[in-house]
Amino acid sequence: MRLKYTITFIFIVALVIIERENNIIAKVSDKITSKQTPQTPLQNFTKPNGSSLPSAPDGRKHILLLASTRTGSSFVGEFFNQQGGNMFYLFEPLWHVERMLTLDNGGTNASASGSAYRDVLRQLFLCNFSLLESFIEPPPQAHITTALFRRESSQSLCEKPVCTPFVKKVFERYHCRTRRCGPLNLTLASESCLQKQHLAIKSVRIRQLETLRTLVEDPRMDMRIIQLVRDPRAVLASRMVAFSSNYMHWKRLAIGGEVPEDDNEVRKLRGNCDNIRLSAEVGLKQPTWLRGRYMLVRYEDIARFPMRKAAEMYRFTGIPFTSTVKTWILRSTQASSAVSGIYSTQKNSSQQVEKWRFNMPFKLVQMVQKVCGPTLNLFGYKFAENEEMLTNKSMSLIEERTFL
Ligand SMILES: *[C@@H]1O[C@H](CO)[C@@H](O)[C@H](O)[C@H]1NC(C)=O
Ligand SMILES: *[C@@H]1O[C@H](CO)[C@@H](O)[C@H](O)[C@H]1NC(C)=O
Ligand SMILES: *[C@@H]1O[C@H](CO)[C@@H](O)[C@H](O)[C@H]1NC(C)=O
Ligand SMILES: *[C@@H]1O[C@H](CO)[C@@H](O)[C@H](O)[C@H]1NC(C)=O
Ligand SMILES: *[C@@H]1O[C@H](CO)[C@@H](O)[C@H](O)[C@H]1NC(C)=O
Ligand SMILES: *[C@@H]1O[C@H](CO)[C@@H](O)[C@H](O)[C@H]1NC(C)=O
Ligand SMILES: *[C@@H]1O[C@H](CO)[C@@H](O)[C@H](O)[C@H]1NC(C)=O
Repeated sequence: MRLKYTITFIFIVALVIIERENNIIAKVSDKITSKQTPQTPLQNFTKPNGSSLPSAPDGRKHILLLASTRTGSSFVGEFFNQQGGNMFYLFEPLWHVERMLTLDNGGTNASASGSAYRDVLRQLFLCNFSLLESFIEPPPQAHITTALFRRESSQSLCEKPVCTPFVKKVFERYHCRTRRCGPLNLTLASESCLQKQHLAIKSVRIRQLETLRTLVEDPRMDMRIIQLVRDPRAVLASRMVAFSSNYMHWKRLAIGGEVPEDDNEVRKLRGNCDNIRLSAEVGLKQPTWLRGRYMLVRYEDIARFPMRKAAEMYRFTGIPFTSTVKTWILRSTQASSAVSGIYSTQKNSSQQVEKWRFNMPFKLVQMVQKVCGPTLNLFGYKFAENEEMLTNKSMSLIEERTFL
């Protein structure tokens, strides 16, 4: 009897080991194939009109994921970060810029920060970290820093040769998780960036798409901008969970029923909604400078159809959608998968997407609808006319829409 159990046990262990090996082999072979396949894009991006975009001579693509907070941009950023091999990915490098340009009153000078963001992005897209370095605190010494925000969120900054041998006694706040590395050498990062085929940067800090015009027009770049948006009601619900003092404030406002125009939170919400809408209006209008370079994606669509949307995003960028990325998406969107718990971005997406409707007081929903009405309309988020409609599970508040 005992022998039987032992044999069964060994058999299971062996199966687990084989399964893991397979995974590793699959990953390695993906890496090898992605290196061997020629990196030229399958075809030049062609707009329906038939004329084709000029592209950077070496086929290099510069992808900017333009989002605002709590729109799932970390998750969508992973679509590019997980590409690994031939992608250089940076997670929120403008965090440093915003931090340094924050005024004493907690705000930022929109025009000054707008141009700083654009200039830093331009340099980063050219694999040059020098301007960013001037915003990092404490300042890097001989291009070495221990303070780069969320270094661990960029595979490119945690793999060899950017991952230098671990140095004892040097504290790095945002250290690599996948392996132990020495402090970040930005010269090495720059060299690695130049060797990768494509670049992707995620940012939640750019307020107006218009401010990026000269960057998009820069002939050294072949920009693709993906704007990620989300239902502002859900964003507010999510913010309230994260910041509970905020929640009390909003609840108090909601009880009043009226929208207090002089309230700071209301003003911020309106400002955010307007900025997002204005940027999207610019993009959707397809001015010459943006034609074929702008894509609008709703968080709700990504959460419900992650694979389909990721494929669309890759098609738009003109970069092959590798099986490494597909595998990552499959794993991180299936709550029951074996890697459960590794990624904080993991949840049952279709269920999560309209969860806010059952947690948010209707009066508050009404208030957001008043403040952000035009934004809801533009992106196809239906108004909840009454409390019954808000909480009726058989009625979705997301209109099916296709944008560019
Ligand atoms: C893509 O565009 C480049 C430059 O405009 C051109 O040289 C190349 O032949 C095009 N490739 C295809 C497949 O159309
Ligand atoms: C085709 O492109 C031209 C200029 O590039 C533009 O003026 C025209 O409106 C476009 N037509 C369509 C159907 O998109
Ligand atoms: C904001 O920055 C711009 C450009 O640097 C400057 O001209 C302007 O005076 C600043 N405004 C405020 C309110 O500080
Ligand atoms: C980065 O850009 C700065 C400013 O344009 C320039 O002085 C510097 O030489 C560049 N660094 C590299 C490595 O190209
Ligand atoms: C950082 O990397 C560059 C490029 O490989 C190298 O020349 C430099 O010595 C490195 N800096 C340090 C402090 O190791
Ligand atoms: C996720 O939620 C949806 C909708 O409630 C459900 O149909 C699906 O089975 C769930 N998936 C998993 C893996 O739990
Ligand atoms: C929910 O919506 C469905 C579809 O519009 C409707 O048939 C149903 O009566 C609604 N239920 C409630 C409780 O209002």
